[in-house]
Amino acid sequence: MTNELQIHDMLKKLFDNIEFAAEPAGLYDPLRYMIALGGKQIRPRLCLTTYALYKDKFGEDILQPAAALEVFHNFTLIHDDIMDRSPKRRGQATVWSKWGEDTAILSGDVMCIDSYRRISKAPAKVLPQVTELFSRTAAEVCEGQQMDMDFEVMAEVPMHDYMKMIGLKTAVLIACSAKMGALIGGASRDDCDKLYNYGYSLGLAFQVADDYLDAYGNEATFGKPIGGDIVNNKKSWLTTRALEKADDILHQRIMDVEDMPVDTSEERVAKIAMMKELYEKLHIEEDAKYEIIRLTEQALGYAATVCTGVRYEILRRFADRLVGRVK
Ligand code: IPE
Ligand code: IPE
Ligand code: MG
Ligand code: MG
Ligand code: MG
Repeated sequence: MTNELQIHDMLKKLFDNIEFAAEPAGLYDPLRYMIALGGKQIRPRLCLTTYALYKDKFGEDILQPAAALEVFHNFTLIHDDIMDRSPKRRGQATVWSKWGEDTAILSGDVMCIDSYRRISKAPAKVLPQVTELFSRTAAEVCEGQQMDMDFEVMAEVPMHDYMKMIGLKTAVLIACSAKMGALIGGASRDDCDKLYNYGYSLGLAFQVADDYLDAYGNEATFGKPIGGDIVNNKKSWLTTRALEKADDILHQRIMDVEDMPVDTSEERVAKIAMMKELYEKLHIEEDAKYEIIRLTEQALGYAATVCTGVRYEILRRFADRLVGRVK
């Protein structure tokens, strides 16, 4: 059976040699820049990992759809950074801050289109299912991103709604990655659905961890400025949980912190510190760590219904690496 190291090597080769059109440079340079910055590539890795549970031969009909997941993900990041006004990603300037918003919109668009071209390389036998899965997922990511923005201006969001929002903006693409590998590998429908659920729970854990790292991570390893969610009044897992737990007095204090100005860097630092002080009073950091573990265990529950032994261990190690992440 193909192991993690072999999958790692395949991914490296795939992204080292990935090709995009050359001209006009104004359109394709930002795209190349983003891909060259190279994220964790968890989505294509998961896709190749679930494929490996069923097949050992890796041709273009699995490698290109796996690449599509990463290209699509990078497209969502380029647009997300405009929406979140984020100056940095992967330790470097974001596309909009380097080239301007207009370029970031258009380069993002062409990446989305490029991802569909790669999806079309899936084996003819499963192409209709793969395309349907990918298209549904892509629309859901947009739905989640809209909810994320709607929530910024809402006073409070029920935890249930927050989970629905991160399910759409983040978990569905990770779920889709897990299912797509299985689908192309020839897995049964039942296995495909269970692996989708495994990916979905992992994706929820992954976004809660992202929210956690946004407040408690290390900028040098995380690659994004710490406290961006607090500055933007994002309804992160941390704020959502804090509002849920707070008594009337603390509730009001959270609202007051949300109203603090963020025009200067001193104001931003003060706002981040005040919010984290309230999180501390409410033990939110511990709650978040617990929630990440709970969701990961939920994912492993699904994995255990698909496979046992060495194959299960591969899914377990994949999940473990995600929970322990620092970037
Ligand atoms: C960032 O995704 C956006 C989220 C869904 C949290 P990743 O954390 O996978 O980003 P990269 O691709 O590794 O940079
Ligand atoms: C991003 O969520 C989700 C998508 C890109 C679809 P975030 O806004 O939390 O991601 P980061 O923190 O900017 O990577
Ligand atoms: Mg966002
Ligand atoms: Mg963002
Ligand atoms: Mg984030």
